[in-house]
Amino acid sequence: DGLVLAGLGLGYLLGAIPFGLILTRLAGLGDVRAIGSGNIGATNVLRTGRKGLAAATLLGDALKGTAAVLVAERLWGADAAMAAGLGAFLGHLFPVWLGFRGGKGVATFIGVLLGLYPLGVVAFAAVWLGLAALLRYSSAAALAASAATPLLLLVLGHGRLAALFCGLGLLLWWKHAPNIRRLIDGTEGRIGQKG
Ligand code: G3P
Repeated sequence: DGLVLAGLGLGYLLGAIPFGLILTRLAGLGDVRAIGSGNIGATNVLRTGRKGLAAATLLGDALKGTAAVLVAERLWGADAAMAAGLGAFLGHLFPVWLGFRGGKGVATFIGVLLGLYPLGVVAFAAVWLGLAALLRYSSAAALAASAATPLLLLVLGHGRLAALFCGLGLLLWWKHAPNIRRLIDGTEGRIGQKG
């Protein structure tokens, strides 16, 4: 209905703000898409060597998802909040301003999860941090954590949220196809490694 569409639209507009691109430009580093993996996300911003900028990118790309969910929930209710989460994720992956070539969705996945089911972020973070410490691959840690999230939601009996995050997870995996190929080939860049 109309409220769900409003949530989707609000989410998309917020999600389509590319924090990594904006912050690296403001810092005078040029276009982050010209370095490393070419992605606009925090992992690739870290390849500029600027940890603070990478952290700010992670926060911005996450909290835009959280804000979309919370604002839509306040204005239009629970269904609109889920739609806003979906919209924010789609906006980040397919921003109209960048010719629909956006990010891979890890930070925004976390931010939407924070808005809809805050405890889920603890589980996501545990899986991500554990694997990142072990393997030093940001992508592999994110792939595992994004798969674990809908499974956990399903086990806890939150079917609708599980379905939503299964959808977001599938899109995230699809966007990571080049990373998956590099992981299989053994050529994926490690965290913080310049490229
Ligand atoms: O989590 C983002 C990360 O999974 C991949 O980023 O820049 O290595 O492709 P990147």
